[in-house]
Amino acid sequence: MDKFRIIGGLPLKGRVSISGAKISALPCMAAAVLTPETVTLHNLPYVRDIITQRRLLEDIGATVLTPELRTHKIAAAHIELFEAPYELVKTMRASVLALGPLLARFGKAKVSLPGGCAIGTRPIDLHLAGFEKLGAEVRLEAGNVVARAPKDGRLRGGEVHFGKVTVTGTENLMMAATLAWGRTTLYNAAREPEIADLAELLNKMGARVRGAGSSTIQIEGVAALGGAEHTIIPDRIETGTFIIAGAITRGELEIKDCRPEHSAALIAKLRDAGVELQELNPSTLSVVGNLKLTASDVTTEPHPGFPTDMQAQYMALMTQAGGQSTIIETVFENRFMHTSELQRMGARIHSDGSRATVQGVTKLTGAPVIASDLRASASLVLAGLVAEGETIIDRVYHIDRGYEKIEAKLRAVGANIERIRESVTAPLSQTAEPAAIV
Ligand code: EPU
Repeated sequence: MDKFRIIGGLPLKGRVSISGAKISALPCMAAAVLTPETVTLHNLPYVRDIITQRRLLEDIGATVLTPELRTHKIAAAHIELFEAPYELVKTMRASVLALGPLLARFGKAKVSLPGGCAIGTRPIDLHLAGFEKLGAEVRLEAGNVVARAPKDGRLRGGEVHFGKVTVTGTENLMMAATLAWGRTTLYNAAREPEIADLAELLNKMGARVRGAGSSTIQIEGVAALGGAEHTIIPDRIETGTFIIAGAITRGELEIKDCRPEHSAALIAKLRDAGVELQELNPSTLSVVGNLKLTASDVTTEPHPGFPTDMQAQYMALMTQAGGQSTIIETVFENRFMHTSELQRMGARIHSDGSRATVQGVTKLTGAPVIASDLRASASLVLAGLVAEGETIIDRVYHIDRGYEKIEAKLRAVGANIERIRESVTAPLSQTAEPAAIV
């Protein structure tokens, strides 16, 4: 398993370009299963989860061509397998996004039930209850979810009220409803920009989806969908991570190819804390890290609130802000795994259940630390950039799942970071099994 070595203390200066959003690319790739025609997706990030999703599509019989590194042409004309096996689901929970499209087009789907993970129990009960509302019969068989449409093979439009806002749940139901008989209404739907991006792709394929981006989404089912071409939106979490990288190192970064309006809550919060942020144009932000940052409390919420996916990185920043900040995590029940690693670097953090208090300013010192999930890894990188001395981050495969070449992007703006590749000839005792991941 690779590690990162970071020597902290250098202000980052220069320009960084943002990649496509992984959490939009994953459902858009799954949506290609809804049609026998070719779906071309541009601006896919070059990250591990996209490679896993491609493998899933190929395993079930789709062909995926890659005319350019960030473009996939997906043709699901000859699907032979209607399932996502445990081997894939256990490494990437987003494999459950195969359920909606398979069920909608073929009337049957089997997906291994994902277990809990590093950030919480993460059930998919709301997805399954939603499919039942569309007329599917859903059973649990030997750890697998087996879903079947009514006898004619087609789902029925229905009303789905989500008891809790769920991003992939909304996406799964939205995809399932595109080919159902009649109208489906999703209430308390997720409003993340990635939902609107998926709806845009579906509509290009011939679907009739209205209201995506709001909490009520209406879908008029159609008999068939066709091919389409679509460019994935920029990654707002990578954008936020680089904003904080500029702020925490007291640097000056220009962040291009992003969509500032997708990060409004984060930007407002960072301005509150004293970070100077300017929107240079609709796709470029500049960030200047002030010497004096002030502690500011935050509570994570579904979009348009402060994203849970930025909570760990914000906590790293708060160790460098004067005063005490309280961070409340409301989306996942166990998303403070990074606190103990930050503490090892000298951070003064007290966490209890869903609440953490951070006392700043603390001088962080480099230490060996272990990444526990994707965003926790990002917070350790940020802490390493500002810490005195050397930080070694173990298990960076977590970060490779969702950040495209983060070390190369950081190095290009002045960070002292390198990847230490584990030798393929290392004795077995030195290699640990990768933990189950998010
Ligand atoms: N939940 C249920 N039942 C369900 C579905 C969700 O109780 O059937 C609960 C979850 O346990 C959680 C909350 O609802 O407490 C929200 O979960 P959600 O379903 O929205 O999360 P997700 O769709 O599994 C996506 C992103 C996550 C991101 C969350 C929240 C993808 C592939 N993943 O997960 O991204 O944190 O939404 O915004 O879209 C990441 O990128 O590091 C990451 C974990």
